[in-house]
Amino acid sequence: MLIIYVIAFVAALAGLLFGYDTGVISGAILFIKDQFNLTSVLVERVVSSVLLGAVIGAAFSGSMADKLGRRRSIVITALLFSLGAVGCAFSPTIPILVCFRFLIGLAIGVASYVAPLYISEISPPDVRGALVSLNQLMITCGIVVSYLVAYALTLGQNEWRWMFGLGAAPAIILLIGMIFLPESPRWLISRGLIDRARAVLAKTNKGKNPDVEIENISKTLTEKGCCWREVFQPWVRPALLVGIALAFFQQATGINTIIYYAPTIFEFAGFGSHRVAILATIGVGTVNVLMTIVAIWLLDKIGRKPLLYIGMAGMTISLAILGIAFYLPSLSGILKWIAVGSVLFYIASFAISLGPIFWLMIAEIYPLKIRGRAMSLATLANWGFNMIVAASFLTLTDKLGKAGTFWLFAVICVVGIIYSYFFVPETKGLTLEQIEEHLHSGKGLYKLGA
Ligand code: BGC
Repeated sequence: MLIIYVIAFVAALAGLLFGYDTGVISGAILFIKDQFNLTSVLVERVVSSVLLGAVIGAAFSGSMADKLGRRRSIVITALLFSLGAVGCAFSPTIPILVCFRFLIGLAIGVASYVAPLYISEISPPDVRGALVSLNQLMITCGIVVSYLVAYALTLGQNEWRWMFGLGAAPAIILLIGMIFLPESPRWLISRGLIDRARAVLAKTNKGKNPDVEIENISKTLTEKGCCWREVFQPWVRPALLVGIALAFFQQATGINTIIYYAPTIFEFAGFGSHRVAILATIGVGTVNVLMTIVAIWLLDKIGRKPLLYIGMAGMTISLAILGIAFYLPSLSGILKWIAVGSVLFYIASFAISLGPIFWLMIAEIYPLKIRGRAMSLATLANWGFNMIVAASFLTLTDKLGKAGTFWLFAVICVVGIIYSYFFVPETKGLTLEQIEEHLHSGKGLYKLGA
C-alpha cells in the first residue's frame, strides 16, 4: 500500500506547481511593475498570461492523455513547468516574460486534470477520494508557499526572478519522479498492454487478484477506437454536464475573488497596515490548507455529497454576512471580527467541499475510453469560468456594489446545493468501473451510490 501513497504524492507535485505558479504572481508583480515601469495594461497582460495558457492547455490537450498516456502527459508538463520557471527567472524583457508565463499556463492547464486523473486510476476505491484530493492539498500548499516566498523575499531587489525560478525545484522533482513511476493500469488496459497492467496492479493492489480487475476494466472497453464524437454520446452527457456544472459552481461562487480580496477585506475591517494584509493573506491560505486536510480525512468516510452540502451551506452563510459587512458604512467593534471570521469561514467551507470535490468528481465519473478528453473539457470550463469571473468582478462590483456581488455569489451557492442534491452522484467506495456501468445503463448518474 505504501507504494500508492508515494505515487500519489509525487503526482500531486503537479498540484503544488499549479498552486505555486498561480499564487506567485501577486507578490512578484509588485517588483516587476516597479522595475519595468509597467502600465496597467501590461500588468494585466503579465498576470493573465497564465490563465490564458491554462485555458488553451486544457482545451488542446484533451486527446493527449488518452493517446500518450497519463504518465507521459505529466512528464511533458513537468518539462514545461521547469522550462517556464527558468525562462521567467531569466526574462530580459516583458514580452519574453509573458511568453514564459504563458508556457507555465499551458502546463497548469494540462497538469490540473492529468494529475488527478492519473491518481484516481491508480488508487483502490476505498482511499481514492483521499489520494486524489492530495492534489488539491498540494494546490493549497503551493498557494501558501508562494505567499511565504514572496513575503520572505520582499527585502531584496530584483527578487521576483527568484520567486519564479524557485518553481523549477518541484518541477524537476516531479519530472524525475514521474520517470520512475508506473503508467496507469487502466490506461494500459485501454491500449491492450495487459501484461504491463498486470504488473502494475500486482504492485498497487496487493492482496487482490489482478486478473479479476483486468477483466472488470476490460468489460468497459468493448467498443473499439475513440474520438470526440464519443465524448458527446447521449449516455455520457449527464456526466459531462455534472463536470461543467461543478466547474461553474467552483468558480462562480467567487473563490478566487475572495482569495484576491482577502487583504482588502481585512483592511476595510480596520486591520490597516500592509504587513497585516500580507499576514492575513497567509492566514487565509493556511486555513485553506488545514481544512483540505480535514476534507481528505472525511471524503471516503462520510462521502462527497454530504461534504458538498455542508461546505456550500457554509459558503452561503459567510458570503451573506460578508455582503452585510460591505453594505454597512463602517465596521467597528465586534463587526470587524465578524467580517474577518466570515472570510475564514468561507475559505474553510470551500476547502471541505467545492475545492477538492470538483477535481475528484471529474476524475471519477467519465468512462475510461474518453476520460482524458472529457476531463479536459471540464477543466477547460473551470479555467474559462475562472477567467470570466476575474474579468467581470470589477464591472460586477461597479454595477451591484461589493455587497451585491457577494450576495450574488451566495445565491449561486444555494443553486449549487439544489443542483448537487438532484444531479451530483455519490461515488464513495465504488470502483471506477461500477460508476461507468451505472452511467452506461442509461440511468444517468443520479441515484448512483444512493
Ligand atoms: C481551484 C482554484 C482555486 C484553489 C484554491 C482550486 O480547486 O480550482 O481556482 O484557486 O482551489 O484553493
